[in-house]
Amino acid sequence: MNAITSSLRSMALENKTVFLRADLNVPLSKRTIVNDFKLQASRPTLDFLLQKRAKIVLATHLGRPKNAEDELSTKNLTNWFKQHGYIVTFAKNPQEAAQKVHRLKKGFILLENLRFFPGEKDQSSEFAKELKECGEIYVNDAFGTLHRNDTSITSLPELYEKKDKTIGFLVEKEIKHLQTLTNKPEKPYVVILGGGKVSTKLPFIKAMLHKADKILLCPALVFTLLKALGKPVGKSLVDPAQFEAMKELWQLSNSSQIIQLPTDYQIALNSPEGNISLTADDEIPDNALGTAIGPKSIINFGEIIKQAKTIFFNAAMGFANRPETTQATNLLLQTLAKSDAYTVVGGGDSVSAAFAAGVAGNINFLSTGGGATLAYLSGEKLPGLIAIGD
Ligand code: 3PG
Repeated sequence: MNAITSSLRSMALENKTVFLRADLNVPLSKRTIVNDFKLQASRPTLDFLLQKRAKIVLATHLGRPKNAEDELSTKNLTNWFKQHGYIVTFAKNPQEAAQKVHRLKKGFILLENLRFFPGEKDQSSEFAKELKECGEIYVNDAFGTLHRNDTSITSLPELYEKKDKTIGFLVEKEIKHLQTLTNKPEKPYVVILGGGKVSTKLPFIKAMLHKADKILLCPALVFTLLKALGKPVGKSLVDPAQFEAMKELWQLSNSSQIIQLPTDYQIALNSPEGNISLTADDEIPDNALGTAIGPKSIINFGEIIKQAKTIFFNAAMGFANRPETTQATNLLLQTLAKSDAYTVVGGGDSVSAAFAAGVAGNINFLSTGGGATLAYLSGEKLPGLIAIGD
């Protein structure tokens, strides 16, 4: 597969209005940014457009708002931009952004959370037309959202001619690095997968059965499989809607031995706040819930990681507010960072875990995508790229 490139470098941008769709969906706690990784990753395209004197409307979603709640307003991002030397003007809706952008002298317009407008999730042609008023040129740099059929990702770019739309530099960079994993990855290729969202991860595991040499299944994901197979998992997080699909996956994978399960677990007694203990095997007592893999599994998984030549990690385990539960994640990430393999960590929690473990600088590539990265690595065509014509 060929690398895809942004045409921004050859476009006439001076005084042109540009709708820049980014993925600035950063974790917030009481309106404070917990991790600015996605904001930092979005800077090269924004800076380039500013340098070229384009008039920019920067747009993103933030979280999954239900009722335009203030905590998820993009106003919460303006201070970050100011602290990083940008001049930012807030616009509460696309109409206001379109008016302001034409008169803009300095800096850029930051549009309110796209998901505050029902049209964003409805593939609304009306909303797409409103957004189009914000820019003569459309740039999609929202790598983490390319797998979504949201209006600003698909319906909006379809309104532009090919010459007036392109991907940004972050999307270009993500695809280039992830292609190391999709284009004949050096073997053994090991995938370490955990976390929640079982339904999103099942298709990925299925696709990886044909691509990876080993898939190390971690909590919480693994508990849905164990429970589906009739194993005791106590009060561990499971997704009953996925039991049948998990059983099928297990049958499908069993002869290949590609999926590797932990052999012991760290558990919390009674509740996530409860005392921490360990199981001797893979059976979780009724009064406990699994928090991470146990010491035997850390060693076994560590050995597999050391043999690997290509590694993808999306398996942050434990609770960030209880450091004793994140040690297994830290140890696996440290082994990853020391290995000679080409290493990619993807997904918000996993990237945060790499920073927390102090190894972010020793990972070959940190992907801003969660679901988008899994979809791309599975070989799916991303709706956001199709809409650009790439
Ligand atoms: C992400 O954080 O993975 C992206 O911003 C997409 O968010 P979503 O899963 O809410 O669409």
